[in-house]
Amino acid sequence: MNKQIDVWDYAGHIMKNIGSGILLTTCKDGKVNSMTIGWGQLGVIWSKPVFTVLVRESRYTKSFLDETGVFTVNVPLGQVDKTILAVCGTKSGRDMDKLAQLGLNTVPGQKIPVPAIRELPLTLECRVIYRQEQDPSAIDKACFDRFYTMGTRNEGDYHTVYYGEIINAYIVEEANQ
Ligand SMILES: Cc1cc2nc3c(=O)[nH]c(=O)nc-3n(C[C@H](O)[C@H](O)[C@H](O)COP(=O)(O)O)c2cc1C
Repeated sequence: MNKQIDVWDYAGHIMKNIGSGILLTTCKDGKVNSMTIGWGQLGVIWSKPVFTVLVRESRYTKSFLDETGVFTVNVPLGQVDKTILAVCGTKSGRDMDKLAQLGLNTVPGQKIPVPAIRELPLTLECRVIYRQEQDPSAIDKACFDRFYTMGTRNEGDYHTVYYGEIINAYIVEEANQ
């Protein structure tokens, strides 16, 4: 059993955690992949609760998202092993099975065919209701120079913004072990 939650009761917790990294998980043809995200927004659009993620073109995750249109957001409660965020934030699912390598435990999704992750138990199940490719000419120059020019940690590719309607929110309980 998972514990159903009202996402707004955890809004502060979710947004405080995103700066240090949370996970975005997708699943296609039975293959599960998680990537670390440090950007995201929780809000209301079209009168729906929405979690917005920004995914660069180069991410393996993007192909999963474009094909399936569903994802989970996985947020730690309490301490999280930093290795999880480091590996999921630097290695690509193209090259390895990150979850298997890290020994992460998945729990089947409730309303979408994307699992939750026991080690990051606060889970948002999201369905993409809008996606928007960035218009480079509309990005503030300082942000553009910092995040979209080649060099440092930038790959020189742009983000697609995915608006995920939060259709379910819960905490994975220990009983799922
Ligand atoms: C703390 C942290 C935050 C990150 N945030 C994002 C993000 O919001 N969007 C993004 O596209 N990549 C972000 N990344 C980079 C991806 O997690 C990384 O490129 C990952 O290896 C992509 O995995 P994939 O190829 O399996 O999709 C972040 C990395 C770290 C370490």
